[in-house]
Amino acid sequence: MELHIVCIPGDGIGPEIVAEAKKVLNKVAEKYGHKLDMKDVLMGGASIDAYGVPLTEETIAAAKAADAVLMGSIGGDPNTSSWYQLPPDRRPEAGLLGIRKALNLFANLRPAYLYPELAAACPLKEEISRAGFDMLIMRELTGGLYFGERRTVTENGVRRAVDTLTYDENEIRRIAVKGFEIARKRRGKVSSVDKANVLDSSRLWRAVVNEVARDYPDVKLEHVLVDNCAMQLVKDPAQFDVILTENMFGDILSDEASMVTGSIGMLSSASLNDTKFGLYEPSHGSAPDIAGKDVANPIATVLSAAMMLRYSFDLDAEADAVEEAVRQVLKDGYRTGDIMSKGCTLVGCRQMGDLLAERI
Ligand code: IPM
Ligand code: MG
Repeated sequence: MELHIVCIPGDGIGPEIVAEAKKVLNKVAEKYGHKLDMKDVLMGGASIDAYGVPLTEETIAAAKAADAVLMGSIGGDPNTSSWYQLPPDRRPEAGLLGIRKALNLFANLRPAYLYPELAAACPLKEEISRAGFDMLIMRELTGGLYFGERRTVTENGVRRAVDTLTYDENEIRRIAVKGFEIARKRRGKVSSVDKANVLDSSRLWRAVVNEVARDYPDVKLEHVLVDNCAMQLVKDPAQFDVILTENMFGDILSDEASMVTGSIGMLSSASLNDTKFGLYEPSHGSAPDIAGKDVANPIATVLSAAMMLRYSFDLDAEADAVEEAVRQVLKDGYRTGDIMSKGCTLVGCRQMGDLLAERI
């Protein structure tokens, strides 16, 4: 099979971790007889430096022409980077929001899984972590507060800022359908998260999710208020299978869910539209403080590449092989600094990539 992939190495540790994911993909292609066509394009801070804007039409066109996009991370340190002197719509993050919208990537899948080998890194009490957990956050990615009308005005000498949270029923329905479909392939439970005791957008969310649920009688549905969900994630994360939620709640809860795994450097993500196309990126940021030092953990990016093989190319055996390589490397005791524990072997970003590729 021919795999046309556009890579966005991005900023900070992005280029290092994408290089290791490419190493693993090349090994997969060699072993399973696929032809890889990978091309790098710029986005975020790197694009600002080269073209003055965080996202160009060329990058959008290249992404649209590919089967999938593999991304590292974008952005820098807001306190020191000159990118953050620019107006908000010209900063690195605007590139990310722009490409999500331009490619209609409305479904963001963020798995949070506690690796048994990394259980010691879990910050929860042992009696909670012992049960393990394996959840998937299905975050709506192109609506809500992130894309509603916003402005800052001064009225009678008083500054006022407005952001708008809007959803229509079609936007809710299509993400709900994705949530139920994936729950069916997992443990058959959807926890829909909203703030229906306060917000109209959440009351519509809940009504539409209930309508969609009628087509999935085999999937168990519960509604959870977002504040309660934040609490339940640290109290009893094992109760969750698929968490279905809107853009802003999903942003916050996915950081929390990743933190309880104790290893944000391990968590992948996929952003999908209604076709097989997807953009795959680690859940973590660009970590500018450790960039260029060969200490970053490439595993989240490698696992994102596995999601790409699975969702965009239907290559389940290949995706399984990549995930198995990760488990094997952990079992063999190799760790990057972020997941290091006593008795294990500390390795850098490049060596981790080599170890993973060897195990394909
Ligand atoms: C994420 C990030 C982005 C978001 C930022 C960088 C705009 O936090 O992907 O979770 O809020 O969506
Ligand atoms: Mg976030």
